Order: sequence, then C-alpha cells, then structure tokens
Amino acid sequence: MTSALAIGAPAVRVDGRHKVTGAARYSADVHLEGLAYAVLVGARVPSGRITRIDTTEAQESWGVHAILTHQNLPKIAAQPPLLPVLAVVPTPGQSFFPLQDEVIHYFGQPVALVVADTLERAQHAAALIRIDYEQSPPVTTLEQGRDHAYEPEAIFGGFIPGRDERGDVNAGLVQADVRVDATYTYAANNHNPIEPSATTAAWDGDRLTLYDATQSVASVQVTVAALLGLTPSKVRVISHFVGGSFGCKASTWAHPVLAALAARQVRRPVELCLTREQMFTSVGHREEQEQRITLGATGEGRLTALRHHKLSPTSPFDDWAEPSLGVASRIYACPNYEGVYRLFRASTMTPTFMRAPGEATGMFALESTMDDLAHQLGIDPVELRLRNYADIDPTTGNPWSSSGLKECYQRGAERFGWQRRNPEPRSHRDGRWLVGYGMATAGYLVFEPVNPQRARARLYADGTAVVQAATPDFGTGVATVMTQVVADALGISPERCRFEGGDTTLPTIALAAASAGAGMISAAVHTAATNLRDQLVARAIADPRSPLHGAAPSTVVVDDGRMALRGRPETGESYGELLDRKFLPDVEAVGVWSPAPEAAEYGMMTFGAQFAEVAVDPDLGLVRVRHMVGAFAPGRVLNPLTTRSQLMGGMLWGLGQALLEANYMDPRRGRWVASSLGDYLVPVNADAPEVDIELIEVEDKVVNPLGVKGVGEIGQVGAAAAIANAVHHATGRRIRKLPITIEDLL
Ligand code: MOS
Repeated sequence: MTSALAIGAPAVRVDGRHKVTGAARYSADVHLEGLAYAVLVGARVPSGRITRIDTTEAQESWGVHAILTHQNLPKIAAQPPLLPVLAVVPTPGQSFFPLQDEVIHYFGQPVALVVADTLERAQHAAALIRIDYEQSPPVTTLEQGRDHAYEPEAIFGGFIPGRDERGDVNAGLVQADVRVDATYTYAANNHNPIEPSATTAAWDGDRLTLYDATQSVASVQVTVAALLGLTPSKVRVISHFVGGSFGCKASTWAHPVLAALAARQVRRPVELCLTREQMFTSVGHREEQEQRITLGATGEGRLTALRHHKLSPTSPFDDWAEPSLGVASRIYACPNYEGVYRLFRASTMTPTFMRAPGEATGMFALESTMDDLAHQLGIDPVELRLRNYADIDPTTGNPWSSSGLKECYQRGAERFGWQRRNPEPRSHRDGRWLVGYGMATAGYLVFEPVNPQRARARLYADGTAVVQAATPDFGTGVATVMTQVVADALGISPERCRFEGGDTTLPTIALAAASAGAGMISAAVHTAATNLRDQLVARAIADPRSPLHGAAPSTVVVDDGRMALRGRPETGESYGELLDRKFLPDVEAVGVWSPAPEAAEYGMMTFGAQFAEVAVDPDLGLVRVRHMVGAFAPGRVLNPLTTRSQLMGGMLWGLGQALLEANYMDPRRGRWVASSLGDYLVPVNADAPEVDIELIEVEDKVVNPLGVKGVGEIGQVGAAAAIANAVHHATGRRIRKLPITIEDLL
C-alpha cells in the first residue's frame, strides 16, 4: 500500500506552537551575557546639516556605555552599492550609509546611537542629546518634483530598464476606435510587520554573530561584511523566527551594521531594535506615485495601444521606483506599448520592495482603465479581458510556461456569482446601501534566482530526517512545506521530517522574496532529498545482504521509510535496517538547483482573477467590502492551508491598499504625517469580509522541479482594482486614487 503524498496535504504549521506559546525566540529575544541596548536617534529635520551635537548630559546619564555620532563612530570600510537583491552579493537597501558626516538627507536619518546597560537608560540618555541643525528646504511632493523629473536608465536596483517599448504606440492610438486616458495617484505605504526590525550583535575576537530579522541571512552576511571590511566567513547571521516582513526585511539597512559597530565599540553584545515609529523612516517604503494610462481599443474591445507612464520621488542617492509597469505591460495581448518611469530626487530615504512591489499599483491603474473601457463599450468586464487574453508573453513572443488564467476568470466568476450583475451602475441596492460588483485580473511574474540554491538532507537510522537550508521562514510557512517536500522525496511521513533554516552556516539560499521562496527552496530541498534517496537505494543495491541487491535502481520505490521493488513490496528493507547493518548513524546529501537554461524561452507568470462586492453608504461615503473571491493558478500547490493563508493575506492587503493604507509627507516639515499604527491604518478583522479562494492547479514543467509558481504576492494584485471597480459599479463614481476615502465619495 502506498501512503498518501505529503505534498498537497493541508499540514498545519510546524512552528505554530512555538509562536503561540511564546517559545519562539526572535532577534531581540536573544538575551546574551552582558547584553547592552542601543537606541537610534533620528534627524528631526528633512534636509540640511548638523551644526552642533552636545552629548555632555547624555554621556553622564546612568548606565551609558557609549554615544556614537558621526564625530566618533568608526567609518565604514566601503560605501554600499545598490545591487540586485536576488544575487548573493551585498544588497543594502540604499547606497547611502548614515553617521558618516553632518549632512542630512531625510527626516529620521540616524544621527546618533546610544548604548546603555538597559533599554530604558538608553532611551533616557537619547532624549538628553542636543542637536542643532541648519535646515534647507525639503523636496517632498509630486508637484514640487514634477518639473525636475528625469528618465532613469534603470530602476529597482538596476533590475529594470527605465523605458520599455514594443510596436508603435502612437500608431496604435491612431488606429483605435476608442481611447481612454486616465491619471491615478497613490499615497505612500509603509510596512508594518508585527515584529519591528531588530538585530543583536555579538563579537568573539574578529568574528561577528548577528541575530537579525531578515528575509535573507545571506544578504545580511555579505552586506555587513562588505561594510565592515570583513570577509563573509567572519560573519554568521542567525534568523530563526521572523515576525513578518513584506519586503522591508529583504534588503540590509543600516541598523545591523550599526549594531555590529556599537558592539565592537562597547566590547559587549548589543541589541538594536527599531521602534514602530522608526519603522516608518528606516527600512524603505512604497513610494507615493502617479501613473497615467492611455488605452486604445477597437470597437470590439481589442487593445491596440497601451501607454503607461509613472512619476515618483526617489532618494538623493538611488534611482528607485517599484516596477509598476511590468505585469501591466504583458498581461494582455496588446501589440503597441510604451512604458516610461520618471523620477525626481526628494528628501526621502530610498523606497524599497513592498508586497507585490509595482504589480499592486500598476494593475490598479490598468484594471481601473480596463473597467472604464468595458463600461464605455458596453462589454462585460470578464468578456473584455477574455478578448484580450495573451496566448503568449507579449513582451517577448515566448509561450507561457503555464497559464490557467481563463479558468481563473471562469471559476472565480462562478464562485462569486458574477452573472447576477446588472452592468448598469447604481442598479443594485440593499436598503440604503448601494451595492456594486467589480473584478480585475491578477498576475505576478515568476522570478528565478541568479545563483544556484542549495540544501542538505540527512536521514538518521531511526528513520527521521532533517533538511537544512539557510533561508529563514519569515512567516510564510516555508518550514512547514519543506517537511512535506522532503517527506515525499524520501518516502517517509512528514511528521518524521524537520526543517532547519535561518542560519548562514547552512547551505545557501539567496533569499525568500519575490514570491519565489516556495519555488526555489523546494527545488533545492527536493533535489537534496532525491539525491539522498538515490544514494540510499544505491547502497542497498550494492549490498549483498540487502534483499534489493543487484536490482535496477529504476525498479526500486520508496514508501513509508522502506525501499522495495515496484509491485513487489515484500522484496525490500527499511532505511533503518540498511543503516543499522552498515553501522551508519546517518547519511546525507546536498542538492544544488539552478533554473534550467530553457526557462529563458518561456514567459513565466502566475495568473489569477479577483472579484469584490462592496456596499457604499451614499450619504456617509462609507465603503464596506462584503465579499472577495480570488481564483489563482499558482502551479503546484504544496500545502493548501499555507497557500490560502498567503493568498488571503494578499487579498486583505489589497483591501487595505484600496481603502486604508496611506502615508503623506508634510510639505512644510518634510516628514511623514503617519508614524504609528494609530494614524497609519491597516485592515483588522472587523474590516475583513468573507474571502473565498479558488485554487486552479496547472502543471508547469519549466519553472522548477515541482512546478511551484508562488503565492506570496499575487493575492494583492488586482484586489484594489476589483474593489474600486465595485465602487464604480455601486455609485457611478470612478475614484482614481488610493486609498479611496470617505471624502472621495461625498
Ligand atoms: Mo517581497 S516585497 O519580494 O519581499
């Protein structure tokens, strides 16, 4: 009898108990002997320079070990380059490193670090530092920057060209029977993982250990090493538990380097934990932006042209924009396209990755405009999208590695009950509430890593296994699904498998980001475990005392911890019997995985369709999202429970993007208006509607060995547009800004 596969089972989280009981140790929970506490002091002006720092009183305050400013902090060994994050190379969040001189570029820029024997004493001393500034006028708003905007050569850490074209967009617009031209604006967004960023740094001679909240221990290791002038082998990074990230822990920011410098200075371990307020000024953000879309289409609704321009502020040092145009440029079959990013330098730190970085904002603009087009032409919104379905990747002409998009539209529409929708705005009511139904397409690229990904699998003679890979599980469920992957490859039950990660001493995984974690980590883990199984089978076959002696490897199957001939389960032996007989306590194998070169011949994207029902109070402007349905085709589903959690989290984030999440610069003071969860709103359970998720499994033989396309971010893509389209359907009002607030609907 063959046991059921572990992959595809709704396994509960292996770390759930640790998390709910408080046993999980996060990076600020590492209470090392002699630990000191560091507090970061941020600039209170957005631009200018420090003219005087007086630390006399703070120095004399109780328990203070050191006060570090640009006047006494050792200089870093190298300026951080801004480099692609998917390669295992230094990956700082910005190319500027603070505390090197007196110049201030943005509000909250670190200007001092106080180290004391307790957190409270460090906080108290920090309040005693006196700093005088000479302030220069900040640049904060789109209006201030518009006339100084430039077209960058590349954005997003050099990943993405600043301009992309195909066909002839002007000719396409001339050909069109109908045109829609619309401009969208977006508030800035901040990451609010439940765990703020934190580092505990400890030196042992010239060796540094960092406990750091990160999506990539490899990135922290190489970045910190480069900035301190050490070889990476001198730096170990441990990240066993991470309380969420959403992109703000994908890059390495200044705080782990500062914690290491402080620990070296005071000759004891130092913990540096950012405050919630500092999370708004220290780890990047999603930039405020404006997008303009011009669509041309035939009378039947076939796109003839798409022009998509974006304007956004970046830091004084880096050409950063999230790639808002990427998915929107290739989700439909449109022959003529022009996408252009424009940037201007502002008094801000470098923006960064935030869940569905670019896709979430770009698809809001495109999918709102598509809804306009559907309305204008009197074509059902789902039908309009089907008419523009891209059979191939329109940017390259390559076939998709897999799609499933048409089924997403169909199954999502069925589950939602789309056919009950009267296309006429304001036609559905529930008492005094106006009810609306909207939909949008979702898409998210499948990213393949640049460097080989590695994992190690070990089987013990007692039949248990451990699989190791450097990646932390930052809340996605990676540790859980990897036990399922290793279980199936070895033919043992997942309860007998354990995942160990979050440590640079383990085999290298670049990082968990870009929705690529499950795909690339499972590829390495599957390869390692398959190599281990093959090795065990080979050992049995070579052993004259094994019942499998001399068998052809291809005839041996593994199940329930036992190797046996296919179709003849009585002829075989358990792993334990083999290992015990050979006096082997354990055996192990490494797996190395790189994407197949053929992958370059395919377009790789995860597809989905979003549906939302809203109710709008016409007198009060309140919007209530009543129901969301998302249908997604993420390739192979390793674990439906963790997959649904990811997708639901993304969809609810889309609700937050649509209605709640916003930060704005105060143009006079050059600082963010919101700096706490009291004034930066994220959805809570009371905001959450019923969320239904349809999983459409499509086979994908290209992306990775298990055909996993990723679910971390696509749940958010299109969700805000579906809600805004539902608001339009409910009220007849098209709101072209995010978030949609009460004032917009009054
Ligand atoms: Mo994700 S925004 O790629 O960490």
